[in-house]
Amino acid sequence: MTNNADNPSDEIVCTCTGTTYGEIADLHAQGYDLDGISSKKGVLSGCGGCEWDVESFIEALTHNQS
Ligand code: FES
Repeated sequence: MTNNADNPSDEIVCTCTGTTYGEIADLHAQGYDLDGISSKKGVLSGCGGCEWDVESFIEALTHNQS
């Protein structure tokens, strides 16, 4: 699977939960928005330090959709 953004799919974006960019991209492709991805994976529910990275990644995925 080709990633739509510049991040390697196996790179961890949320260290609290170990969630990777690839996992977020997969959930986004299934129709989950930021809240849904957060509920599903727990991202943003720990320290919150990944918030900017996760939001900007989802933003990039959304804008790359045709
Ligand atoms: S790094 Fe994602 S909640 Fe802490």
